[in-house]
This record gives sequence, C-alpha cells and structure tokens, in this order.
Amino acid sequence: MLTSDEIRSRYIDYYMQRGHTLIPSSSLLPEGDVTTLFTGSGMQPLIKYFLGEPHPCGSRLVDSQKCFRTEDIDEVGDNRHTTFFEMLGNWSLGDYFKAEQLPWIFEFLVKELGIDPTRLYVTVFSGEEKYGIPKDDESVEIWRRLFKKVGIEAKAVHIGDPDRGGEVGMQGGRIFYYNSKKNWWSRAGPPEKMPVREPGGPDSEIFYDFGTLHDPKYGPHCHPNCECGRFMEIGNSVFMEYNKTDNGRFEKLPQRNVDFGGGLERISAAVTRNTDMFAIDTLKCLIDALPGGVEAMRSKRIIADHMRAAAFLITDGVEPSNKDRGYMLRKLLRRAIIHASMLERSGDDANNLSSGYGETLERLFGLICDEYAGTYTLNREKILAVFRGESQKFRNTFTSGMRRLERYETVEVNTAFKLYESFGLPYEVIKEFGGSKAASLTREAFEERLDVHRKLSRAGAEKKFGGHGLILDTGELKAKDQAEMEKVTRLHTATHLLHAALREVLGDEVKQAGSDITTERVRFDFSFPRKLTEEEIKKVENIANQIVQQNLKVECREMPRSEAEKTGALFFFKAKYGDTVKVYYTGGSLEGSFSKEFCGGPHVERTGLIGRIRITKEEAVAAGVRRIRATVD
Ligand code: SER
Repeated sequence: MLTSDEIRSRYIDYYMQRGHTLIPSSSLLPEGDVTTLFTGSGMQPLIKYFLGEPHPCGSRLVDSQKCFRTEDIDEVGDNRHTTFFEMLGNWSLGDYFKAEQLPWIFEFLVKELGIDPTRLYVTVFSGEEKYGIPKDDESVEIWRRLFKKVGIEAKAVHIGDPDRGGEVGMQGGRIFYYNSKKNWWSRAGPPEKMPVREPGGPDSEIFYDFGTLHDPKYGPHCHPNCECGRFMEIGNSVFMEYNKTDNGRFEKLPQRNVDFGGGLERISAAVTRNTDMFAIDTLKCLIDALPGGVEAMRSKRIIADHMRAAAFLITDGVEPSNKDRGYMLRKLLRRAIIHASMLERSGDDANNLSSGYGETLERLFGLICDEYAGTYTLNREKILAVFRGESQKFRNTFTSGMRRLERYETVEVNTAFKLYESFGLPYEVIKEFGGSKAASLTREAFEERLDVHRKLSRAGAEKKFGGHGLILDTGELKAKDQAEMEKVTRLHTATHLLHAALREVLGDEVKQAGSDITTERVRFDFSFPRKLTEEEIKKVENIANQIVQQNLKVECREMPRSEAEKTGALFFFKAKYGDTVKVYYTGGSLEGSFSKEFCGGPHVERTGLIGRIRITKEEAVAAGVRRIRATVD
C-alpha cells in the first residue's frame, strides 16, 4: 500500500517528467494578499502569474502546498474534515490546457496510483448564460475518450440544482454537468462573488466513489457533490482563463492557465479505500498516540488536526492573540487543550484542567515534527515555547471563568461573549460545562457575535473618534458603549448603500435631504416627487442587501474638495465641508464603485458586517421630499 510520502513524491516525479519545475511550498501566511488570512490552496501564491507576469521557474510548475482552511473548523471531529492539509498542485501558466491536463491526471490516478477507474466520476461546468460563458463540452469529450480507453462508456448528464439535492440524481451518468455553484473556481467563489479584476474559471473535478449507501439526510438523491460521504472530491482542474471586469462582466485573460489541486490525504484515502481521513498514515500515528478508545474518537480527531495545524502555523510565524490569525491559533490550541484535558479528566473536578494534558500534547508535537521532517522543517523549540505560554495563560483564566459561569442562571449569546472576552472561555467549554443553562446557545450565534465585535474594533472607530462619541456626517451622536457604537456604525454604512440603491432604482433626481441615525434605525430623507411603489421599495432593499452579501470593502480616500467633487461622489448640500474631504466608497475602485459619498465616517470595514437591511417605512415629509426608515438585523 502506498504511503502518503510515496504518493507525494510520485506525483512530483510524474509532473517533472512532463516538463514541470518543482517549486517549494509557500508560507501559510499569504504575502501581499489581502483577500485571505491563510493560504488555502496551491494557486493563491501564484495569482500574479495567471495574470501574465512570467514565473522565474517557467510555465509548468508542480508542488505540494501546505494549506489551512478555517471554514470547516467546526466540522472537525467527523471522519473527513481537517483544517490543515497538503495540496498537490500542477500549473500551466499560459502553456498546456484541457487536452493535456485531463489525460495526465487521469493516467496518474489510474496507472501510477492504481486507483480503480470504475470508482471515478467527474464533473464539468454547465455554462452561465448571464455571463456569456459557454458549457464545457470540450472537457466532456476528453473525459469520454479517457473512460472509453479503460472500457467505460461514460454518459454525460445534467444534475439540476445542486442545492436542491441534485434533483435528478445519478441517471446512470459518469460525467456530470453542474452550474457555477459547484464547477467554477476563484479565490472568492462563484462569479457573482468575485471582486473586479479577480481571475477565475470553470473547473472539472474528479470524485472517488466509496460505494457506501446514500444518506437521505443530505437530500433525496445522491450525486457526486452530495455530502453524504459516498463521493469524495480528490482533484480539481481549474481552467483559469477569465477575468472579472470593472463592469461586472467577464473577459478572457491574456493567457489560458491550468490550476490543478488535489488533497494529498484525500488521494491517499482513495488509494487505500479508506473513508476515514484520520486512518491515513499522517494522522493515524497521532490518533494512536492519544489516550482513550473509540468513544473518544471525536476529541482525538480534534486534537490531532488542531495540533498539526498549530505546529505549522507557529512555524510560519503566527503567535496567539485575540484577532485574525492569532485568534485562529489560540482557538486551535485552546480547543486541543480542552479536549486533551477531557480525555484525561477523572470526572470529578470540572473547574480545573487536568494536569496531564500538557505532557500528552507536547509529545504529540514531537511526533508531528518527526513525521514531517523529510518534507517540511518545523520549528520544534518555538512550537513548544508558544504552546507552553498559551497553556499557562489559558490555565489561569479557565478557573476564574468557570466560577463565573457557575453563577449565571442562563447563558445566552451575550453572556457567552462576556465569558469569552473576559476569561477566554471558548464556545466549546461554555457549551460543555454550561449544560442546560446554555441550551439555547448556538455556535453560529456565538461566532457571529464574535465576528462583528472583532471586525468592528478593527475598523478603529473608537481610536479615530475618541471615547464613545461618534461624529457622523449627519450630526453628533453619543453611543453609550461599544455595542451601541457598533450598531450605529453598521446603520451608517447601510445609509450609504440605501442612498446609492435609491438612485439606482429611482434615478439621479434622488438627492439626500437629511438623515438621522439612532441605535435603533436610520431615517433618510430624499428628494423625490411621489410615493414609492412596494416593488420599488423591495428593489432598493434587494440591491442594498446584495451589496451586503458581496461583503465588499468600504474604503476611504482623503482629497481636496474640488477634486472630490469631480469624482462624482455624492454630497449633502446642507452640510459644510472643509477644503479637504474624505470620500467613502464601496465596491471596487473609486471610479467604479457602487456608492461614493463625502463623509466623515466611521464605517464598517466590509459590507457583510452590516447585516440584513430592512426598509420599515416610506412616507412623505414635505412636498417633493420622501422619508424612509430602515433597520439592520
Ligand atoms: N484552486 C483549486 C482548488 O483549490 C485547484 O487547485 O480546488
């Protein structure tokens, strides 16, 4: 049976024989990439080369890239989710395309690794009329030929809406057309989520069929992208040939690129026909080193995954803290500590962490460093020093936090947030030890609360505006505390979006006539001759919420007033502006933005932080002046 090390080196050799240069794995912390906190795919460090800059190693590259993805962190504990993984990758930077990529990867999986081709199913892009991007029949033809060569008649079928459980099921298909929700790849996701000038393209994924029974919990019909566990994606060839333009449409990039990525452990799972990712050699050795039997498997998997990720993150320079990367590391370490402590706890003293967890986890770090020694150099001393420091901090706050938790009668999201803020108690502990008191607390609500807090404090509103007074462009408002200030800031950015959306729906005759923001709602007055229809109100609300959903950056530029006026930024004719003004804009460049206004701020950093905007009322205030009220959830 091939080991993960052997699979990695065979892959690299295979592509080197086909003219590829091996490049080293980049750091987990992307340099000069503001779109993501961590490197989550092999292509991220290569973005500029897709856009045309020549790579010093040529136009064919291969590597194994360390990746860390936080989206699935809460799923870790089942048999297939991990945060850290290695992604095998090969790239064509304006060199070969579909006709080489698909045969090569198929041959590698089937001939080099010996995967049974009857277990392989593939998906292709079904096209997107809205953007004028055709369906990928070329890949279908290539796949058909490849399967035919190994004696399989591959039928191509359309799957219907993947979000509705693949409405029509397998239909005897081998090649499946999916829309851009599944078969389109960019760093930001599907086409509508992509910011302007972001590259992306249709992709073709390869799935391994474990042959397990479909679990109807995941939808009425099984299909390759079903989450029930029967199918697992083992590789993705992205045909990176499009670029999103300023007007939101797509144009071809100057060159056609291929971006292939395949999770090493997933490929290993297919080779060894193992549905449990934690039974793959790289993780199994960690699971085996932990105390507890199968009943403790969830905790053991969390520990193994989190410690491995922490070891790599620390090596790449992350230190525990309360925000961004540091927060993720803190979360990994603290969750691992809690689960290790639970594995060892005798059950009597819930208020203290067990004494033995430190030794267990340090031993695990040692194993991780040894295991990867041939491929990546991990910084053993630094890992242990960071772990010990964090463990000490956590130990001190843990006991006081637990005492406080005991005193509460119920623990809802704001109480939980307080426990986290003051004592560092993570969600797991509050949930686990809060018992029935915390029954209504959900991870989603907790994370949401945390997110709003984290990002808004980062926006630096407090620092810039001093204390808790907020100077809005519409007047002054005293916010009692941080929470009120956050709310007002969200409403303030919502006002800008509503203003722009009103103009989009009703035309440029809409001009601000006044605005007032409290901690409850925004009131916005504007010039317009008649009552708005229900439909118009809905449209305005929808447009503003689409911008919220796209989570666009809110940016600010300071410039002389005369220059700012030329940009077409909106201003409130009653307000007095100085010689230098700030222009806040949302969505792309200053020129191509959705909304731009003269404004003193503060605003949220990204529109996603606003929450859902609801227009609650529309009325007349004077002849030719309308008023809307809106709230944010
Ligand atoms: N970028 C693609 C992915 O992450 C393929 O490498 O799936």
